[in-house]
Amino acid sequence: MGKHEDKMFMKRFSMVIGGLMAFTIVIIIFANTFDKDVDPLENPSKLAMTAKRIEPVSAVRTEMPSGEEIAQAAAAEPAQVAAIPDGPATYAAACQACHMTGAAGAPIPGSDAWAQRAAKGADTLYASAINGLNAMPAKGGRMDLSDEDIKAAVDHMLAQ
Ligand code: HEC
Repeated sequence: MGKHEDKMFMKRFSMVIGGLMAFTIVIIIFANTFDKDVDPLENPSKLAMTAKRIEPVSAVRTEMPSGEEIAQAAAAEPAQVAAIPDGPATYAAACQACHMTGAAGAPIPGSDAWAQRAAKGADTLYASAINGLNAMPAKGGRMDLSDEDIKAAVDHMLAQ
């Protein structure tokens, strides 16, 4: 190849390269005019969706509820019908597992052992049942029950 052909080749080659570069720039400008989308990191709806996805399942509230909130909660609560303590039901649900079987030395109502307990008087038995006694946990382990429920259960045991 002569010098002339070399020059011709370089000229054509540069033209092709230059043309491709120009074409690339045109495409970039063209694409930019269409891509009006907001940066995903600043898109408010995407941010909201992300926050929703990563939000904690629950939160611990450390401040005290305001007086207004307490009033609202109280108003929202269904009118409390004075809960009538149901001795037999409480006994069945919370006491008989031990007291019907004598588990852990629990006195069985109606037995001689029970008669000795009953001799202590209802008030002592109420106190034992509410506060617990040796192997018997307080309220039979049912701290959700009220003192009245426990007393009703003891009354039911005494009636047996
Ligand atoms: C986990 C078993 C268990 C459950 C549940 C349980 N008790 Fe007892 N209870 C005992 C045992 C054991 C004793 C005997 C404790 C002792 O004198 O050492 C006892 C004793 C008592 C006594 C006699 C207390 C005294 O002063 O002599 C009463 C009354 C009583 N239980 C009532 C209840 C009532 C009411 C419930 C249900 C709310 C209940 N217990 C649930 C185990 C249980």
